[in-house]
Amino acid sequence: MLEKVLAAVDSRRAQSVDALKQFLRIPSVSTKPEHKPDMVRCAEWLRDQVARAGLDAKVMPTNGHPVVLAKNEHRPNRPTVLFYGHYDVQPPEPLELWKTPPFEPAVRKDDSGYEAVFARGAVDDKGQVWCHVEAAQCWKDAAAGLPVNVTMLVEGEEEIGSENLEKFVADNLEMLRADIAVISDTGQFARGVPAITYGLRGLCYMEMFLAGPSHDLHSGMYGGAVTNPANALCELIASLKTPDGHVNIPGFYDDVVALTMQEKKLWAALPFDEAEYLRDLGVDAAAGEPGYSNLARRWGRPTCDVNGITTGYQGHGAKTVIPSKASAKVSMRLVPNQDPAKVRDAFERALRERCPPGVTIEFKSHGMAPAALVPMNSKATRLAAEALELGFGKKPTFMREGGSIPVVGLIKRVLGIDTLLVGFGLPDDRVHSPNEKMDLDALHRGTRTAAALYERLAQLR
Ligand code: BES
Ligand code: MN
Ligand code: MN
Repeated sequence: MLEKVLAAVDSRRAQSVDALKQFLRIPSVSTKPEHKPDMVRCAEWLRDQVARAGLDAKVMPTNGHPVVLAKNEHRPNRPTVLFYGHYDVQPPEPLELWKTPPFEPAVRKDDSGYEAVFARGAVDDKGQVWCHVEAAQCWKDAAAGLPVNVTMLVEGEEEIGSENLEKFVADNLEMLRADIAVISDTGQFARGVPAITYGLRGLCYMEMFLAGPSHDLHSGMYGGAVTNPANALCELIASLKTPDGHVNIPGFYDDVVALTMQEKKLWAALPFDEAEYLRDLGVDAAAGEPGYSNLARRWGRPTCDVNGITTGYQGHGAKTVIPSKASAKVSMRLVPNQDPAKVRDAFERALRERCPPGVTIEFKSHGMAPAALVPMNSKATRLAAEALELGFGKKPTFMREGGSIPVVGLIKRVLGIDTLLVGFGLPDDRVHSPNEKMDLDALHRGTRTAAALYERLAQLR
C-alpha cells in the first residue's frame, strides 16, 4: 500500500509546489495587528486544503488567532497521532534584503545551486506543514485514506509564544487525546543527513525598560551630571555575561543538567564543519563557553542574548541628546531542568540590584517555554527513524536543536504524551531571516517521510 502512496507523492510533486506557493502568498504574520484578516484567511485556506485531503476540518476560534483542527474518521482499534504545526510566520523585515518579495514565493536556485522556494514561512513552518497535508492527500488518492487515526492541530500563534493554546488544549482535551504527537518544525542535520531531534532549548524572553529624566536633555547642558539611561542600559547588558560567555545571573545555572559523555560523543561524531558554518554566517570567529563544542554551545548549554535595543536618536545624522528612556529585549535559551519562571525572577533580581541611581527599571515578560527532551529509545522513535529512512534513503541521525517549540512542553504536561520531532529543514534555510527558503528536494522527501510515518505509526499499538 505504501508503495502506491509514495508513487502518488512522486507524481504530484509539481502540483504540490504550486499549492504551497498559494499558502506562502498569504502574509500570516501573527505579531502584527494589521494582519489579523490574513490570519483568518490563511486558516480558512488551510482548512479547505485539509478537507480536500479527506479530513473533517474546521477553523476554531481562540482568544487570539484561530486554530485549524482536523480529523480523519477515528477507529477504535487504531493508534491516534496528533500532528501539530503552525501557519503563522515571523515578520519579513528588513524588506530591502529580500531578493524577491517575502510573500511572492519564487522558485529558483539557492547559493549552492539547489532548487528552493523562497518566501517568508517557506520552511518555518508552512512548507513542513504542507508535507503532511500532501501526505494525507496521497493516502486518500492511492489508498482510500490514512492508515491511522490522525488529529491535525495547526495554530497561528507559535511565533508569538503560543499563549492562547493552553486554554484551547484544555477546552478540547477529549478531541486532542492521542498516543503520540508529531511535529515537523525542525531540520535535517545537513543536506543528505536526515535527523530526529530529541531535544529543544527552552526560552525566557524578557524586556527591560529604563527611565531617567522626564524628557530628553541637551547632551552638552546636562551631560556628565545625570545618569544617562542609554549608558545605564549598556552597562546592565554588559553585566549579563562575563567575557568567557558565562551568564552572570546568580542562580542561572543552578538546575542545569550537565551533558553526559555519551551525548558529547554522539555530537562529536556528527559531520559538522565549523569553518563552513562560519563562512555561511559571514563571521571570522566563533564564540562561546570555553570547553564546549559549537554544537554543545547551541544544543546543550543555556545562554543569554540581546535581541533588540531601543534608545536615543535613530534618525539620519547627529542629534546631541541624552535620551530619557532606554529599553532592551533579551532572550535566554534554557536547557532541561531549568525553570523559566525561576530564571525570569533571577534575571529581574540581578538587574534591579545593578541598576544605578537616577534611573528606574521595569520588566515585561514576553513568554516562556521549558526545554524539551524526547526519549530516543521508544518504539515511536524507532518507527519515525524507519519513516525517515524511507523518505530520505538514509538512516537518520539524532540531534538536538537550539530553538524552542513551546507546545512540546504543553503536549507532555496536559496531554501526557511525547512528541516526535521529525523536521526537514536545512541549516542554511535562513529561518526568521530575509530570503527564507524551503528546499524542493527536502519538501519532496519530507512528504514521502510523512506518508511513510503515518503507515509506520499504525504499528504503535
Ligand atoms: N521552528 C522554530 C523553532 C526551531 C528553530 C526549531 C530552529 C529548530 C531549529 C519555531 O517556529 C520558533 O521560531 N520558535 C521560537 C519560539 C518563541 C517565539 C516562543 C523560537 O525558538 O524563538
Ligand atoms: Mn516553527
Ligand atoms: Mn519560527
